[in-house]
Amino acid sequence: MKTFIPAGGKFKKEMRPRSFKDLLSAEESLFRSPEVFDPDYVPEEYLHREAQMRSIAHCIKPALRGERPLNALIHGPPATGKTTAMRKLFQELEDTPGAARIARVHINCQITSTKFGIFSLIHRAVVGHLPPETGVPFSKVYEATFRKLRRENRILLVVLDDMDNLLRERHANEVLYDILRAHEVFPGAKTAIFSIVSGTEFLYKLADRVRSMFRPQEIYFPPYSAGEMYDILKRRAELGFFPGVIDDELVEKVASYAYEHGDLRLGIELLKASALIAESHASRRIEEEHVEEAYSKSRAATLRSLVEPLSKEEKQLLKLLCEVEEGITSGRLYEHFSGRTGLSYTKFYRLLKKLEELRLVDTKVVSAAGRGRSRRIFLRPQREELLKVLP
Ligand SMILES: Nc1ncnc2c1ncn2[C@@H]1O[C@H](COP(=O)(O)OP(=O)(O)OP(=O)(O)O)[C@@H](O)[C@H]1O
Ligand SMILES: [Mg+2]
Repeated sequence: MKTFIPAGGKFKKEMRPRSFKDLLSAEESLFRSPEVFDPDYVPEEYLHREAQMRSIAHCIKPALRGERPLNALIHGPPATGKTTAMRKLFQELEDTPGAARIARVHINCQITSTKFGIFSLIHRAVVGHLPPETGVPFSKVYEATFRKLRRENRILLVVLDDMDNLLRERHANEVLYDILRAHEVFPGAKTAIFSIVSGTEFLYKLADRVRSMFRPQEIYFPPYSAGEMYDILKRRAELGFFPGVIDDELVEKVASYAYEHGDLRLGIELLKASALIAESHASRRIEEEHVEEAYSKSRAATLRSLVEPLSKEEKQLLKLLCEVEEGITSGRLYEHFSGRTGLSYTKFYRLLKKLEELRLVDTKVVSAAGRGRSRRIFLRPQREELLKVLP
């Protein structure tokens, strides 16, 4: 392979292809603090969540006086700041008088979803190190943890983040039960759980004996309004970029995309991606076209991740929907579909439901004069966007 820049310097300086070093040069960067766009960044200013922080503080306060905290069920749609709230709380406990008596641990149940894994992390929070990975029965880990907790007269607070996942893995009941009943085995042990889940249905999926012990305070994190998203994104841009890199109107545009999708995370990602695109065009500022490019790339990636795992028939139905008129009745759609595939109406209906669950299509029941009611089907993404990711 030829070297990138000929050793003899055949090119005049201005014609010479830029080396990787030049291309990666820090001076070109628009980012003052790139880490503020990282998924695990804990924002200094946590905006528009005063009420939720107050409710969480209410649950934890008894622990600062040596009493058992209240259990909490923190719920709300994605990217509404639930995980961040807990991270902020833990940060603030660092220098709160009385907090040393709270042994606390924040467990991501997407990553740790076995009972032994969870109790190993609890063991570390209380005892100071993980138990050996093999050869130690669960009962030993459990006993060592709660004996030490009680001996030191400390209180255990376990945050189980994304706990829906534990329910899916069928460990939720056992884990909650074993933490909450600790005082029965070790009288005087004080424990509480803050569960972070997407919705309160979670509670009704628990076994009765567990639900009656848990009885959490419910703390709801509603979706952010467009204005709130704008405030948060503007602050993030101010921290992350050098001054003058992005105009307020473009932050508004990013916020409106984030709002449209009900996803603040999308907004944060778009800020970062737009700046990287601007840099790749050697621009000193983010322009509207950079935001547009970032948005269309992100849309394509999201759609691809939705469409790729679909079955052959689901993809066929989606493709057909790209070809027929918008708002087609389900009857007419089925005629086309069965003509192409020969599949039954029941099968067709199941495929349609799946596409609806994935929010790729909307169905609306409308009544037409004299013709009764009919179900009409609408594609949610743009046809052109979909066709790009369909085989
Ligand atoms: N009020 C806020 N102020 C500043 N940044 C916020 C706020 N709320 C959320 N964020 C940011 O939005 C992103 C998503 O927040 P977070 O991870 O806390 O959401 P979540 O509710 O836990 O979402 P999920 O249910 O998907 O786990 C993070 O980058 C976080 O920094
Ligand atoms: Mg979270």
